[in-house]
Amino acid sequence: MIVVPGNAVYNKFWPSSKKAIRSPHKRWFSYGRHAFVSYFKYLEHQFQKINTVWVPDYICHEVVNSFNAYNYEVKYYPLNDELEPDLNTIASITKEAVPHDVFLLCHFYGKIVKNLKEISSLLTSKQIHLIEDCVHLPFANLEISRPAHSAARMFSFRKIYPVPYGSFLVTKDEQKKFTNFLSQHIEAHVDHQTARVIRWMAREYLKSLALRFKIPVKRKYTNLSLDPLQPFNFAHPLVERMIDQNDWHVCFSQRRENYVLYQQYFKPQTDWIKPFEFDIQNDCPYQFPLTLASGMERKHFVSYFLKHGVAAQFGLALHKNVLDRLPKDHHYNRHVTLPVHQGISEKEVMYVCDLLKQYEETFISNY
Ligand SMILES: Cc1ncc(COP(=O)(O)O)c(C=O)c1O
Repeated sequence: MIVVPGNAVYNKFWPSSKKAIRSPHKRWFSYGRHAFVSYFKYLEHQFQKINTVWVPDYICHEVVNSFNAYNYEVKYYPLNDELEPDLNTIASITKEAVPHDVFLLCHFYGKIVKNLKEISSLLTSKQIHLIEDCVHLPFANLEISRPAHSAARMFSFRKIYPVPYGSFLVTKDEQKKFTNFLSQHIEAHVDHQTARVIRWMAREYLKSLALRFKIPVKRKYTNLSLDPLQPFNFAHPLVERMIDQNDWHVCFSQRRENYVLYQQYFKPQTDWIKPFEFDIQNDCPYQFPLTLASGMERKHFVSYFLKHGVAAQFGLALHKNVLDRLPKDHHYNRHVTLPVHQGISEKEVMYVCDLLKQYEETFISNY
């Protein structure tokens, strides 16, 4: 059996790269949610109290929990089948929202929202702050440019690269303004993050050895409690150096290549499963998302792949408030994902595709 992990595994024993990401407008945080909340506080300091934060109903529940914990009122907006908001949705939000509300736009699974420019102009005409959630968007360049259509863009290190934590916010405002605000208004003190990073490295290294001997490794959650770390990531010089310089470009091109390989090696014989479409020139897949046909049980699908060593997952873990009002058969409840990350090879993609074919032959009755 081949073991295909869900995320790239860290397999060097000591950091080697010396290059840091350069951006005049970047600020490091431990988690993405810290970046968001800190930026909300900055906006409130610049303008006025935020009335509502508009979030896509597909967002991970952890993000909403953080907003609630800091007493921000959250309102959900719906997405279409491509996990993007329609312009009609935006138009109706601009009627209901008030100036200085925040609108969070997510490029889910690495697919860049097509109408970003139009959405931006509709929202800015109403003085609504647009923030881009780029957690699923791998960045290829060491130079992260200033956002063109939003107030800020939040990137995640840990979701894309084999590092324990790290996210950063790139703001349209001068970094100094934001940084000055943070140092004056948000309490932060150094804890033992560097020691934690080193412990994590040793654990990951052992994990990579285990995988080499085809021993499946259970995933360990790092973020089950709400705010396990200080907002600021003081370990970032070390975390940045854990990523090889080459990884930046390998990550981007390998994920695209793996997505194309999936498409080449697996063509469903009936419409029991629908792959998420990417524009491979612009987008960069974070995972290989698939929607199961209506009435299918995704637990069965995911268990089958896990049993065969492939880290298949459900789509995002949604908030209870969203789940409670979603029809059981809604397409959000039928999303599954397969690994596409830079740590897997063509042979491994072919193995996953063979399993997809086997699954189709065994369980799909009208095949
Ligand atoms: C789309 C999206 N945005 C933001 C986050 C939050 O990132 P973090 O876990 O680094 O706070 C997550 C996951 O938790 C996510 O899936």
